[in-house]
Amino acid sequence: MQSPTVSELLSQNTSLLEVDIKGWVRTFRANRFIALNDGSTINNIQCVVDFENFDEVLLKRVTTGAAIHIKGQLVESQGKGQKVEIKVAHLEVLGDSDPETYPIQPKKHSFEFLRENAHLRTRTNTFSAVMRLRSALSFAVHKYFNENGFYYMHAPIITGSDAEGAGEMFKVSSLDNKKLPLDEEGKVDYTKDFFGKETNLTVSGQLEAETYAMSLGKVYTFGPTFRAENSNTSRHLAEFWMIEPEVAFMDLAGNMDLAEDFLKSVVTHILANNREDLEFLEKRLLDEEKTKPQAERSEMSLIEKLNFITENNFKRVSYTEAIDILRNCKPNKKKKFKYLIDEWGTDLQSEHERFLVEKHFKCPVILFDYPADIKAFYMRLNEDGKTVRAMDILFPGIGEIVGGAQREERLDVLKQRMAAIDIPEEDLWWYLDLRKYGTAVHSGFGLGFERLVMFATGMSNIRDVIPFPRTPQNAEF
Ligand code: 4AD
Ligand code: MG
Repeated sequence: MQSPTVSELLSQNTSLLEVDIKGWVRTFRANRFIALNDGSTINNIQCVVDFENFDEVLLKRVTTGAAIHIKGQLVESQGKGQKVEIKVAHLEVLGDSDPETYPIQPKKHSFEFLRENAHLRTRTNTFSAVMRLRSALSFAVHKYFNENGFYYMHAPIITGSDAEGAGEMFKVSSLDNKKLPLDEEGKVDYTKDFFGKETNLTVSGQLEAETYAMSLGKVYTFGPTFRAENSNTSRHLAEFWMIEPEVAFMDLAGNMDLAEDFLKSVVTHILANNREDLEFLEKRLLDEEKTKPQAERSEMSLIEKLNFITENNFKRVSYTEAIDILRNCKPNKKKKFKYLIDEWGTDLQSEHERFLVEKHFKCPVILFDYPADIKAFYMRLNEDGKTVRAMDILFPGIGEIVGGAQREERLDVLKQRMAAIDIPEEDLWWYLDLRKYGTAVHSGFGLGFERLVMFATGMSNIRDVIPFPRTPQNAEF
């Protein structure tokens, strides 16, 4: 039988229970009170030792970070702050933690410092709460799709195609870069490489997911994706996880409905199941915001923001309407934006997205029908011949959280779009086949999982919501 966790013990009402528990020391106070944590909850269980009855040398080894084994009785607590505590009968130190060198002391550490100690940072309340929420959110993702008739599809990690056409890919090669095989023109001869062609880490599982949607109907991927874009921002990672549903016979309106329902569902899940961690993170965020000027503080607390998402409709606005709003807004006229909006067709920057969401509409926004020129080749061209059925979902504090589209299902139009941006048909012959055999309207989207975790936890840097962040110049651990 497994011994109960701290979480289970803390929810016990029956006292005088014999307990046997292992965990790590958070603090040891007055040579008497051990705060023990085992990862099962943000809360510690208080373990009370009668130091008179224990070996002094043993007690000296009870230091922050040490792994210990405790046997004793669960009793009603004498002190304030907890209902129950453990009266320790037996104490064993399983693994010492040298207080002189252990980096995670019971005090405030900066997130920068903790990033450098990412192998230890889940020993803090903040990071354990964030990572429990990350786990709960990924469970909620699978639960939602499973309950709604989707199949989970594993898209390949190594691919020959650049789905987004942005050329921001990491090469995958087994060639010896000190003696690269060259062809007659002096270019690298990839036929000699492992796969006999140029390959890279995938930027998106979408194109492969489309092949499955066109037979299984409703599918989704949830896997790592890679982008070699050199943007060192608080919202970009070189390796991040993406969730990509793809559905046959669904148009753009259906795609928006799906994305909104899905986002509401996963947020509802954590509100119902991860209350303690959310309350802890809400308080952390409040403390952090107190250090900011009033104008930068958010009007809602973390849990209020999450409730707001589940209770309100997302505002659906076309790109053209959004450009009109932005062109005439104060920060544009007063040249407060770094990138000024002057004409239809310009791409939106995160400052514009956040203005629309946080200042103008004050709710999540779905922007749709973007200019074809700023979006990927696979999006369905509208009748106007200049916009495509794209949609981006913008969230407060985050900006773009979802990017998706209705796909171009017409073979001739798709070929023209590919030709216009020099994507050789040979490269995507299998993708074109979908339009030759049983083509149909279909749509899907990609949700950046870390951006969702940022929103759900109130963390402001994407490096703090993934276990081991990969960013330019950084791949430690
Ligand atoms: O908008 P993107 O590039 O869309 C696609 O990749 C489509 N193939 C998705 C689809 O239709 N199936 O990326 C989707 C989302 C973005 O909205 C953003 O949340 C996230 O992925 N994302 C990143 N997250 C972290 N770091 C990065 N470098 C990201 N790039 C995109
Ligand atoms: Mg996008």
